[in-house]
Amino acid sequence: MALARVAGLVAASPVAAAVAQIDPRPLGEHRRVLSLAEVQTAFDFEPVFHGNVILPVYDYTAHGDGSEFTLRRNRQAFDWVDILPSRAAIPASQVDLSSELLGLKMKFPIIVAPTAAMVPLHPDGEIGMFKAATAASNTLMILSTNTSTPVAQVAPASPGGTLWAQFYPLQSLAATQQWMDTYQNAGAGGVIVTIDQQASYYERTQQDRNFGGRVARTAGPGAGAGSGTAVLTGAARYRINSGRLWYTWQYIDAVRKMVKGPLLIKGILDPQDAGMAIDHGADAIIVSNHGGRSMDYGPSSLEVLPEIVAAVNGRIPILFDSGIRRGTDIFKALALGANGVMIGRTARWGLAAFGTAGAQRLIEMLQQELVQVSAAAGCAKLSDIGKKAVKANFV
Ligand SMILES: Cc1cc2nc3c(=O)[nH]c(=O)nc-3n(C[C@H](O)[C@H](O)[C@H](O)COP(=O)(O)O)c2cc1C
Repeated sequence: MALARVAGLVAASPVAAAVAQIDPRPLGEHRRVLSLAEVQTAFDFEPVFHGNVILPVYDYTAHGDGSEFTLRRNRQAFDWVDILPSRAAIPASQVDLSSELLGLKMKFPIIVAPTAAMVPLHPDGEIGMFKAATAASNTLMILSTNTSTPVAQVAPASPGGTLWAQFYPLQSLAATQQWMDTYQNAGAGGVIVTIDQQASYYERTQQDRNFGGRVARTAGPGAGAGSGTAVLTGAARYRINSGRLWYTWQYIDAVRKMVKGPLLIKGILDPQDAGMAIDHGADAIIVSNHGGRSMDYGPSSLEVLPEIVAAVNGRIPILFDSGIRRGTDIFKALALGANGVMIGRTARWGLAAFGTAGAQRLIEMLQQELVQVSAAAGCAKLSDIGKKAVKANFV
């Protein structure tokens, strides 16, 4: 009885009330989630994406291989390139950045990169991304082979849009042919073969975090977060992925014969490899380190771009990706010799934050930022964006 009285007194006291109502965070840390009407840069989408999805889905997009040195360097490299202000700045209305890539007319030199598993990001998924890309001045989208929506459903979902498809080499030529038939018959006009996934078992976070230990994936790397739970055995325990160690350029010769439209080779970081890609029939190459998800401690894509541009010497178009977040980034890559750029994570931020409308807004934002910087640098057309517009101070 006496104890109950004491308990009642404590509960009624201001001290107990203060304890019960402790504010979990200082007020200064309060963040509001922006609405689509409020986002102003690509970076504004990222925290919305973070807040919308479970952590493994966030981590699958955000992270890179190993210590993530290359992931960080991809962004740093853009800081090391100055845009030279022009005394002959022009009005943005005079800027026209349209071009043609392998027969495809593009209003802006921006492409949605192939990235796996979009449905976990947002129910609109790959279909939403394709609709968004098409609505944003007919932007080309490249569908990942690890799509979470079958190509037969994605391709017809956005009439008037252009969809190409990305492919990871399959050791069996019969399986390769089957893939080519499925994707090309569904309407994928161009095929991108990614060759930079030989050495590394990427998505570090899927290995070390979130699952309470290492897990094996039952499907391919792009199957996304949450797939597979078996315990790894043998070499796989040490991140040795034997699945892709057999690549050769002869394989590309076989693929070349199966691809009816343009064949692009993605994952080139070396001038000699660029030459090999041309020798083996590539119609274009993509200078890319897979957004830092492939081999850590490799160079940033931007640093190696100029030497590859010099080696290719205009023989075929060069696309670029890894680290693009702003219009100025795109401008720098173009000035250093790329004919167009691809966006991976940024496109995913847009979709994951606000679905189809978000992805469209994000692409349009980058387009407008690119127009703005081009105008400021006095570049009215794509061919004006050249070496003279920038100064690279790579360290
Ligand atoms: C979550 C995620 C999944 C990806 N999946 C694929 C893929 O299936 N095939 C592929 O060729 N590249 C894939 N990539 C690499 C992208 O095509 C692109 O090279 C990279 O995202 C560019 O870097 P950025 O994210 O900094 O723009 C993926 C990238 C991310 C972030």
